[in-house]
Amino acid sequence: MKSQSQVTVRPARNLRGNVQLPGDKSISHRYAMLAGIAQEASRLENYSTGADCASTLGCMRSLGVEWERKEGRDNVIEVKGRGLALAAPAGALDCGNSGSTMRMLSGIVAGQKFTSEMIGDESLSRRPMERVIKPLSFMGAEIASHEGRPPLRITGAALKAIEYKMPVASAQVKSCLLFAGLFAEGETRIEEPMRTRDHGEVALGAFGVQLDRRSVGQGSEVRIRGGQRLRGIEARIPGDLSSAAFFLCAAALFPGSQLTISHLSMNPTRARLLDILTEMGLRIAVAELDEIHGEIAGTLQVEGRGLKGCTIAGADSAALIDEIPVLAAIAPYTEQGIEIRDARELRVKESDRIAAVATNLRLMGGQVEEREDGLGIPGGQILHGAELDSFGDHRIAMAFAVAALRARGETLMRGAESAAISYPAFFQTLETVTER
Ligand code: S3P
Repeated sequence: MKSQSQVTVRPARNLRGNVQLPGDKSISHRYAMLAGIAQEASRLENYSTGADCASTLGCMRSLGVEWERKEGRDNVIEVKGRGLALAAPAGALDCGNSGSTMRMLSGIVAGQKFTSEMIGDESLSRRPMERVIKPLSFMGAEIASHEGRPPLRITGAALKAIEYKMPVASAQVKSCLLFAGLFAEGETRIEEPMRTRDHGEVALGAFGVQLDRRSVGQGSEVRIRGGQRLRGIEARIPGDLSSAAFFLCAAALFPGSQLTISHLSMNPTRARLLDILTEMGLRIAVAELDEIHGEIAGTLQVEGRGLKGCTIAGADSAALIDEIPVLAAIAPYTEQGIEIRDARELRVKESDRIAAVATNLRLMGGQVEEREDGLGIPGGQILHGAELDSFGDHRIAMAFAVAALRARGETLMRGAESAAISYPAFFQTLETVTER
């Protein structure tokens, strides 16, 4: 059992200062996995400091990949790629709390000549894995699970290429199948119903893999040929936009707040939040755009003004899936409120995020309508500080630390240690840019 910690968040007057975020979690996972199966060594700077990305590195080590964390500020990881053939692990692959690790790595172990057992913590053990089990089984892997949930026991095979239309919009599943496609004989074709983050495609390209991509309606199609060899890369991973979301939303709460966030990921499949916040009233300027290995980074300068409401539905719900908790947490303070639809996936994240948001908003005296696939949160509300729970979910802990900044009175966040899943220094960093 991990020890529980609680953090008290006091109301703020303003946000001001500079923030530098740890490397993007989605990119870090993918780089660590692909670096492990590359033919050459890779150097990954600004690797995510989150526990989830450490789980991926731990699993790679169990699969015989040697890597080393370099001393210094930049969280540099050097990985010695061992090529497509990994080593049979001596014990279970522990994915911790990380759905990304389990889902994406399952695509790689499915192509190995051994059996792997993948386990996770209590939250991960409740999460649906059918979405990877089914297509990987079509490709020839043999997978046992606990009624579609972890633990997974994956017996690798000589995989066959498939053509697969994903029923759920999930970047993790898309990457899993593209990774499996590297081991398959022939060309694998994956179609996603809605456009999701494309870090898997971009990372594969960076490691020298040829892919064909095209848009199909609101989604996309990706094709990959098996048997391609991966080269190593040297990369600086841009800051995590989903972690920046907490600071952006906090700044948006206070007219006059001013924040600068440097070297932040600006990948277009992740940046919908910037459009939404701009439409709601936050002033955002982007400078110093830079591209490295197909990923775009930039410096953001933001200034808080009034905050209107918005509706998030359809393709936006997929594009903003990790940012919805914090948008919902600030919704009561907006002028018109926020309406969230088509976001049923939130119920199967690290916690049931629809229920967790509704519970915490109500504890703060907020009015909220909880629906099967979303939330209706009226604007113009005044919330009070309260004793809240993170539900063991990093994004809930951080979202409600932000909501607490504008509440009347102090808020106690129980289970605040969950923030370390993606952003261990979150509470300290928030403190450094908060004025009271
Ligand atoms: C991620 C995809 C999303 C997201 C998760 C990271 C990724 O999950 O919620 O935090 O890196 O591909 P789904 O693929 O389940 O939508």
